[in-house]
Amino acid sequence: MKKVQDIALTRRSVFAAAAALVAAPAIIRSAVAQQVDAPPRLDVPFVPTPQQVVDKMLELASINKGDFLIDLGSGDGRIPVTAAQRFGVRALGVDINPQRIKEANDRAREANVTALVEFRQQDLFETDLSQCDVLTMYLLPSVNLKLRPKILSTMKPGARVVSHAFDMGDWTPEQKVSVDGRSVMLWTVPKR
Ligand SMILES: C[S@@+](CC[C@H](N)C(=O)[O-])C[C@H]1O[C@@H](n2cnc3c(N)ncnc32)[C@H](O)[C@@H]1O
Repeated sequence: MKKVQDIALTRRSVFAAAAALVAAPAIIRSAVAQQVDAPPRLDVPFVPTPQQVVDKMLELASINKGDFLIDLGSGDGRIPVTAAQRFGVRALGVDINPQRIKEANDRAREANVTALVEFRQQDLFETDLSQCDVLTMYLLPSVNLKLRPKILSTMKPGARVVSHAFDMGDWTPEQKVSVDGRSVMLWTVPKR
């Protein structure tokens, strides 16, 4: 009797294993699909900088001919596009959200500045800042603080950093102005 029960159990286990094997590819496919479709994890939500504030940020940065500007978390691309349009400089916008990159590329095309502006889907913490002359940011206090050591250790001395709204902790800005009730701050990367 026990032998008959054992055989029945073994058969059931074999069927269960076979069923799991058949189902596995579907489960894996669904997990992969979810990962591909999942929205990117944002460190900062998308909130655009009003155009008057963009203009003031670029004015504070004292942009020179030949400068290279990077906007970390570039959203719809308004800061790099304005820099290219008004100052004729090269600019890179970095955003982790592909929808924002699409909007920014549309904006660059409409403004006829695609030769000067690039938008890259990338995590802003991975961006190389070593060639950057002007860094613009509208992020969050904690994100600014996380970026600060990299700014100070990899950006060129003399490069300018301009932030909308949020400061850099105890690295005091050399200028702070208010535009329509919003703060814009400027720092210059010191010699190492
Ligand atoms: C407050 S918006 C600023 C947009 C634009 N710079 C402006 O001032 O109009 C912040 C942007 O950062 C992007 N972002 C959030 N986390 C990011 C990350 N880890 N890497 C790159 N971009 C990120 C968001 O998708 C959003 O577009």
